[in-house]
Amino acid sequence: MLKIYRVDAINPSIDIIRRAGEYIKGGNLVAFPTETVYGLGADTFNGDACLKIFKAKGRPPDNPLIVHIADFDELNKVATDVPEFVWSIIKKAWPGPLTLILPKAPDVPKEVTGGRNTVAVRSPAHPVALALIKSSEVPIAAPSANKSGRPSPTLAEHIVEDYKDDDIDMVVLDAGPTFFGVESTIIDVTKNPPVLLRPGPYTLEELKALFGMDIVVPEFARGLGEADTALAPGMKYRHYAPRTRLTIIECEKYEQLVKLLRDVAIDNMKKGIRVALLITRETSEMLLRDYPEIGNLPIIILGYRENPYTIAASLFDSLRNLDKINVDLGIAEGIEERGIGLAVMNRLRKASSFSRVKC
Ligand code: TXA
Ligand code: MG
Repeated sequence: MLKIYRVDAINPSIDIIRRAGEYIKGGNLVAFPTETVYGLGADTFNGDACLKIFKAKGRPPDNPLIVHIADFDELNKVATDVPEFVWSIIKKAWPGPLTLILPKAPDVPKEVTGGRNTVAVRSPAHPVALALIKSSEVPIAAPSANKSGRPSPTLAEHIVEDYKDDDIDMVVLDAGPTFFGVESTIIDVTKNPPVLLRPGPYTLEELKALFGMDIVVPEFARGLGEADTALAPGMKYRHYAPRTRLTIIECEKYEQLVKLLRDVAIDNMKKGIRVALLITRETSEMLLRDYPEIGNLPIIILGYRENPYTIAASLFDSLRNLDKINVDLGIAEGIEERGIGLAVMNRLRKASSFSRVKC
């Protein structure tokens, strides 16, 4: 059964947090908000409890979890040989949407790391997540709370949507929408120079300044091409995917992008394909003004092109909404790979299974 508790995002009820903490201690699952997306958590040191996460999500066992801690000192319980420069980075970046890959401590069970000798760790910047970890008195291992392959939950309603028909015990702490809307940045600091495994709210530009050195950005981190191993989400497994087919329009020049969006939409409509557009507010206004012939297509607004944070925040909800309107194809507007735009494009490209039309 899903037990849903509504909590205030800033001042969560002590009583509810205590109950959820007891639930974690008892080897059960709690879905909780973070500043990125909702996570599905269990006691890191209880391998059987962590197994429940994989079972609930339908997650492949070699796709590891992220360990969430509330105090820097807890890092020593889950990681070893943390270099001095990493400590100084942590002090600046945590709590926050930055996950570090480090050598794992012996007590972290194989269920958490998918059998690797490294562990992913972060301290989430969300009062509810921090209160829950403290109340549980253990680091909490969690992936995103969605069913495997579905877009990550940015609202508690998304969790209900994914699990309502399942025979499953789970406490859900509903604190409303998450802040960033895309998952944390993941960086492997066991490598020199460090390697960006997944772009996220902690931007590449910020990482470079934080580390004071170059960061390796593999093609897969941009959402281009697949890697062979399950190193970061979406590299090996189908991720974030709506059920409806999706394609992305990518152009450097904005006017060209708007025109290509229109051309691709018309092309598909002529073939009898039912099309919806996932576009920014600016583009929807431009299309309606310049190309009224496609003005009556269903449109899902992706936020403001001018402010990519609004696009990140609404992205996963938009992908879920695409499945709720009855169409065959979603055509999404690409944005610039700058700041959080890199994370948005990484998620969009994976959601589209790398289908795109370029200028
Ligand atoms: O913001 C977030 O990252 C959210 C919230 C809940 O913290 N978590 C999240 O976890 O989205 P998710 O579903 O992306 O799963 C954790 C990912 C795995 O898919 C894996 O690729 C990566 O973290 N990961 C975990 N351990 C790793 C390791 N040892 N080496 C490389 N990647 C690892
Ligand atoms: Mg996930």
